[in-house]
Amino acid sequence: MKFFIDSADVSEIKRAAEIGIIDGVTTNPSLIAKSGRSFEEVVKEITTIVDGPISAEVTAMDHAGMMEEAKPLIAIHENITIKVPMTEAGITTCVALSKQGVKVNVTLIFHLNQAIIAAKAGAAFVSPFAGRLDDIGEDGLQMIAETSAVFAQYGFDTEILAASIRNSLHVKQAALAGADVVTMPGEVFHKLFKHHLTDQGIEKFLEDWKSVPKSK
Ligand code: G3P
Repeated sequence: MKFFIDSADVSEIKRAAEIGIIDGVTTNPSLIAKSGRSFEEVVKEITTIVDGPISAEVTAMDHAGMMEEAKPLIAIHENITIKVPMTEAGITTCVALSKQGVKVNVTLIFHLNQAIIAAKAGAAFVSPFAGRLDDIGEDGLQMIAETSAVFAQYGFDTEILAASIRNSLHVKQAALAGADVVTMPGEVFHKLFKHHLTDQGIEKFLEDWKSVPKSK
């Protein structure tokens, strides 16, 4: 199972990556806007921090425009994955870029049928948005489980990249549902390490250690 950081904040990405188990990064236009920096500059810097797929999203809504936007992004680094929205133009772009050997992440997936379409288009990743489905009272993790079962049934090699992950429970549920990748904010990633019994256990070990006679 792969862990990606869902962020365009380079210090957040660095802090998580330093631990040594981050496999990639996802960004989106909202995250780039939040960073307050230029898109190309941020993406370029991320490629120097994490050696793995880095999703950079196009914002054009037509196929030709998406292809134009993808060109300079692909040129930044071989690890750049082009993120396209789940629209007809996005899927046409996914087919074209995949044929060129460029990895594509189809984003804003909210239904199994959309995931199947993206897989048929040769997407390297599909991004089901678990949290946003939960927000409207639907079961985001159930959709990931369905996608996992159907991809296995048809032998699709598109990876399921669970996105819109809001908490540790989502990460556990995404793993159980068969997600290949979970992308999460740094805050969620760091929380995965924590358990109060781990903290209590460390405290007790260190306390007991004080009574161990020291060799002279
Ligand atoms: O990167 C896409 C996705 O992870 C966004 O999450 O929290 O804005 O629904 P969120």
